[in-house]
Amino acid sequence: MRKRPEDLRSHRWFGVDDLRAFGHRSRTKQMGFASEDYAGKPVIAIVNTWSDLNPCHAHFRQRAEDVKRGVWQAGGFPLEAPAISLGETFMKPTTMLYRNLLAMETEELLRSNPVDGVVLLGGCDKTVPAMLMGATSMNLPAIFVPAGPMLRGHWRGQTLGSGSDVWKFWAEKRAGAIDDCTWRELEDGIARSYGTCMTMGTASTMAAAAEALGMTLPGASSIPAADSAHPRMAAAAGRRIVDLVWDDVTPKAIMTAEAFDNAVTATMAIGGSTNAVVHLIAMARRAGVALDLDRFDALSRRTPVIGDIRPSGRFLMEDFYYAGGLRGLLARLRDLLHLECMTVGGQTLGHGLDEAVVSNDEVIRVRTNPASVEGGVAVLRGNLAPHGAVIKQTAATPSLLVHTGPAVVFADYNDLSARIDDPDLPVTADSVLVLQHAGPLGGPGMPEWGMLPIPKKLLQAGVRDMVRVSDARMSGTAYGTCVLHVAPESFVGGPLAFVRDGDLIELNVSERRLTLQVSDAELAARREGWTAPAVQYPRGYGKLHAEHVLQADQGCDFDFLQAGEEIPEPEIH
Ligand code: FES
Repeated sequence: MRKRPEDLRSHRWFGVDDLRAFGHRSRTKQMGFASEDYAGKPVIAIVNTWSDLNPCHAHFRQRAEDVKRGVWQAGGFPLEAPAISLGETFMKPTTMLYRNLLAMETEELLRSNPVDGVVLLGGCDKTVPAMLMGATSMNLPAIFVPAGPMLRGHWRGQTLGSGSDVWKFWAEKRAGAIDDCTWRELEDGIARSYGTCMTMGTASTMAAAAEALGMTLPGASSIPAADSAHPRMAAAAGRRIVDLVWDDVTPKAIMTAEAFDNAVTATMAIGGSTNAVVHLIAMARRAGVALDLDRFDALSRRTPVIGDIRPSGRFLMEDFYYAGGLRGLLARLRDLLHLECMTVGGQTLGHGLDEAVVSNDEVIRVRTNPASVEGGVAVLRGNLAPHGAVIKQTAATPSLLVHTGPAVVFADYNDLSARIDDPDLPVTADSVLVLQHAGPLGGPGMPEWGMLPIPKKLLQAGVRDMVRVSDARMSGTAYGTCVLHVAPESFVGGPLAFVRDGDLIELNVSERRLTLQVSDAELAARREGWTAPAVQYPRGYGKLHAEHVLQADQGCDFDFLQAGEEIPEPEIH
């Protein structure tokens, strides 16, 4: 049933006749708004992660205005609220340390203010799950507006992809194959516009997952940031959120178990980032949906990769958009999707897919010619990862997917930096590089260190990939035979903590196994002499993180933020 103005949450702030409401109205007038501007209208918060510290969101001041235009047109009252930006490029040790902070900020911004619905402006990696997690917990009507990918990079006639080509050319520079001048030219050409990384990195992956989940307008996730369709999409989101408020359509009504299956399936079909595993599990738990690693693996096994996009494939997000975008891709996966799931657009996910056009079968492949017959992510288990680990099999070297080799162990990132290029490091192309203390607590924040650099002496010998194992994450733009998210992490005494140089590690992706060829008795003996390391942050947010963050297989949310009892509405007096 449609809400009436007196049913709006904001009515408690503005619509009643008491001392507090007088203050709320007079202070709204202080901003230049007349009562005709807001009285009886849904208040729409535009939570904006614009910041000079986040190049990917440089256009969000204007996009907030575009959303406002739509909200006004539809009879709502838009108010912009800034939130911490989590710019992937600058924040250290990792934005992942702060994902839950933005989730908390989003939730509490909405709870404490006279808000009826929200448009979320995010895009750079962690901002997508963070804002959706917060909005889900608050459960007010919400639409996500993704920042959109930047334009293709260019260098001397070559197309450059964010991140992926940085890693590739950095390896060439370390191998002595390119000079400083070339390196500077690459720096000038790789980031040509505002917007998120234009490979299928974490930002593009999470935007696609949000769309498949039903939390963006149909087609929104593929639109390049600099395309005029992007502000039109933002204004449309502004118009649409007003109706969502009147109809009281909340995130938990959209984000069902079936919708999460759709999000995972889409993620697998685009060869998406391994980070999506951690984020979607955390998002699902906020919505009260039991999504786990086994579900990822099951959906991955049945889903072909048909989005031929870097780093798994050949093309970039701009190509994907012109080829038909996510709607085109979903149209080719109809039999694998729950088409009846509702979206914030007001129609089902399947609505209109029959008419979705794919104009380039190279970029969005037909089902009979997939880039890979299985999805991008495989879940591994074994005595080295009792609670699971993941690998992006489509971005790995096929010949290394079944491999046994001796471990070369680095105790932490500093140890890795100090020794990886040591000419005396006892390493060969068959070695397995192991990084400890890079997980949710050890990093802290599970930094994207999982694509360990290839030792320089091997690079110079022509080696470009090796098996690497860590409890870290990996950038969605990265590639290589990297086993990630090993759980439990080494910092809390997971078996990864007890690996020693020379131990044999067996990787078998087709059998989903990750085995440390050390006996249980020997592992138990090594555990005897182990003492837990000290937590690195003695106070503040870092201490809160250390005390409450969950392991990778559980999504790295804080234990007290997952779905639980309802929090009462704030008293207004
Ligand atoms: Fe912002 Fe990659 S750095 S999306």
